[in-house]
Amino acid sequence: EKGTYPNYMLKEIDEQPAVIRKIVMAYEDDKGQVSIDEDIRGAIAASDRLYIVAAGTSYHAGLVGKQLLENLSGVPTEVHIASEFSYNMPLLSKNPLFIFISQSGETADSRAVLVHVKKLGFRTLTITNVAGSTLSREADHTLLLHAGPEIAVASTKAYTAQVAVLSILAADIANGKGMELDFDLTKELGIVANAMAALVDQKEVLENIAREYLADTRNAFYIGRAVDYFVCLESALKLKEISYIQAEGFAGGELKHGTIALIEKGTPVFALATQAHVNGSIRSNVKEVVARGANACIISLEGLNEEGDSLVLPEVHDALTPLVSVVPMQLIAYYAALQRGCDVDKPRNLAKSVTVE
Ligand code: M6R
Repeated sequence: EKGTYPNYMLKEIDEQPAVIRKIVMAYEDDKGQVSIDEDIRGAIAASDRLYIVAAGTSYHAGLVGKQLLENLSGVPTEVHIASEFSYNMPLLSKNPLFIFISQSGETADSRAVLVHVKKLGFRTLTITNVAGSTLSREADHTLLLHAGPEIAVASTKAYTAQVAVLSILAADIANGKGMELDFDLTKELGIVANAMAALVDQKEVLENIAREYLADTRNAFYIGRAVDYFVCLESALKLKEISYIQAEGFAGGELKHGTIALIEKGTPVFALATQAHVNGSIRSNVKEVVARGANACIISLEGLNEEGDSLVLPEVHDALTPLVSVVPMQLIAYYAALQRGCDVDKPRNLAKSVTVE
């Protein structure tokens, strides 16, 4: 099934441009615009706050989703780690709508929250890759990811599919509220797919970055601001779970509050710079770590790039940059794991879906 690929993870990373195009087709209406079905639109319109609940990579997609939902459609949105929800239960609004994001649709921690909020009588929506999964069957509504089976334990194409579907949801809510978006999402997702295709073609560059920065390090840091910070969390998780290198994602501005103490000569620091409004500040954070000996690798968006950046991402709409910036991070983690002789598809101690609480 993996054809000529050495493993599933690489195949799934490569499939991402096609997945985005498939999502656009699946959600396209008769006017050629991406939209969601009326029931879900109605359920969201009737709610006053969205509560996203998820685990791992799906939680990271939820963080990006919150930004999309709040920025594009003005709906207050919170994101919660499923396994913490019952202990740190937020105060709920009057008419909450719960959104469960889960590739497998089988994550026990998320299901426990679903069962609980259903008992309380709240509306629920599951965003999943698996039609007929437990979370899909038990929720009031489902949005499918259309990513095709994801076999590798490290989630790649499901993450980008989740962010893409959340962008469609956000744009649809905005439309429903009569808010004019200043861009055409259908067209912009097409541009994203092309950008992803250009990035998966740069494997040699990314393999070399992995070798240069991660060959014999014990740890690595990822820094970013605004939405880049959320992609840094996901990038660090990817590296940790398949290469066993200790990695952390940090908000650029937090470094000086403690983390910078960890920077030594040669510490790899990956910095994402895809957001114009924080470009200056993330670049000064890079200078701060470089001054303490870090080996910095800057990945920037075309138009914001500066001399010395290691990789320049093709330009896409600034609300959609996570869809492209995560791709080189996935490949860097992949090659680092391979170079260290790790089993990329089946990392130690992990299962594809976590069906125990
Ligand atoms: O199937 P789910 O999306 O609910 O799974 C959630 C996490 O277990 C999952 O994303 C996990 O973090 C991945 N192995 C990360 O690559």
